Amino acid sequence: MGKSASRKYVPSVLLVDDEASVLYTLEAVLKPEGYQIAKASCAENAYELFKSDPFDLVITDLTMPGDSGLVLLENVLKIRPDSMVILITAYGSESIAVDAMKKGAYDYLPKPFANDELKITVRRALEKLSLRQENQLLKERLNERAGLASIVGASEGMQSVYDLITRVGPADVTVLITGESGTGKELVANAIHSLSPRKNSPFIRVNCAALPENLIESELFGYEKGAFTGAINRKLGKFEIAHQGTIFLDEIGEMSPATQTKVLRILQEREFERLGGNHTISVDARVIAATNRDLQAEIANGKFREDLFYRLNVINIHLPPLRERLSDIPLLLEAFARKFCEKFSKKYEKFSDDFMGRLMQYSWPGNVRELQNLIERVIILEDESLFQNSSNRFNMRSKLENEQFIEEGLLSMHYKDAKEVLLKTFEKKYFEGLLDKAAGNMSEAARIAGMHRKNLYLKLKELEIKE
Ligand SMILES: Nc1ncnc2c1ncn2[C@@H]1O[C@H](COP(=O)(O)OP(=O)(O)OP(=O)(O)O)[C@@H](O)[C@H]1O
Ligand SMILES: [Mg+2]
Repeated sequence: MGKSASRKYVPSVLLVDDEASVLYTLEAVLKPEGYQIAKASCAENAYELFKSDPFDLVITDLTMPGDSGLVLLENVLKIRPDSMVILITAYGSESIAVDAMKKGAYDYLPKPFANDELKITVRRALEKLSLRQENQLLKERLNERAGLASIVGASEGMQSVYDLITRVGPADVTVLITGESGTGKELVANAIHSLSPRKNSPFIRVNCAALPENLIESELFGYEKGAFTGAINRKLGKFEIAHQGTIFLDEIGEMSPATQTKVLRILQEREFERLGGNHTISVDARVIAATNRDLQAEIANGKFREDLFYRLNVINIHLPPLRERLSDIPLLLEAFARKFCEKFSKKYEKFSDDFMGRLMQYSWPGNVRELQNLIERVIILEDESLFQNSSNRFNMRSKLENEQFIEEGLLSMHYKDAKEVLLKTFEKKYFEGLLDKAAGNMSEAARIAGMHRKNLYLKLKELEIKE
């Protein structure tokens, strides 16, 4: 990649032979094929050229003064392991040629060879190379998706989260992930790491909330033997363990002022000392932080250092609460249901519309985690009605959220349709509430509504509300 799509890709070929006439013939046959060609008269000369431009294909003589073709093969593959190498062998050196193939050569051409034979061998070698590269590309893309694949959701809010993750993941920047509890902050931190060049190095999570004040520093920075009573051995801190990888500072809003100061220093200077130690340790760890607190407000209250905030908040990824992306619920529901069905060996069955409807009307204060826990219980106990009870407790609240949800949907409709939908919803809510209030007494309900009993009756029928 990096090569612009509009420019045609020209494979590069390096020819190596100590006989000028052979070089000349090779070039005469291959140049018209449209390759970019360079020539070297010995292996040493070839190394120079290869280092500045790792060729796609090398065609080399086997026996030359200086390094042989076999040694050249090994050295070339050290620099660029996917280079294609074709050896030209003299009569009687087949066993060496086989050896070369074992060492990674693509093929060999016994002298004398026909021009067409040369052309075809070269073409095949380059085809193989481009297939390999495509494969590699596909694998990389798959890996990229693997990081994102665990995150479910297709709402607009989540789309922009994905977009940010894919753009920020590979860049070595500090990221601050914000969002309410249970919105998937840790999942996002993991995805960022798995998209980064550090993906094969450690991803170390530190939960700043779970550690008591006096432990958090030793946890982060480690300590030397004898640093305090009980420090029997040296202990490495999380920053040190995360060297060349990623350190995920979770619940960063819970850090004490003293710890904040130390963490700030690491971010600024990329170095620290173990507790009780006097030599400075450099560390190369990418920092990702997360919090469900409003750090700006914490700053205003003097609880969080502003300078630390700016260090962490280079890129901010904010996860919207589930109630603002209710359209993700069906997807999440299916993903969780399938997961738990597999885990508990249950048969996957679709949920009832009624159940789905109830899920869509709830405000989900515990966000995706709450939904996941609910689905787990429902699958284990095979009982959808489990949710009814808990949802009733939030009825008032869910009605409000429901309105907000309706409004979001309304904005994608024509005015007339939207008005009708909203009116219907309002009427339904009004009359349902009215009947509740009047405890099912129709005369009382009619009195409150200021309607004739008969009209109320008709209205309820129209709205399909049972008295
Ligand atoms: N979009 C999502 N797709 C699939 N699973 C999700 C999604 N969001 C969250 N989860 C799951 O919900 C649970 C909570 O997510 P996570 O721990 O990442 O949330 P959090 O934002 O870190 O919450 P807290 O602030 O409470 O630590 C996890 O089990 C996670 O796998
Ligand atoms: Mg978390």
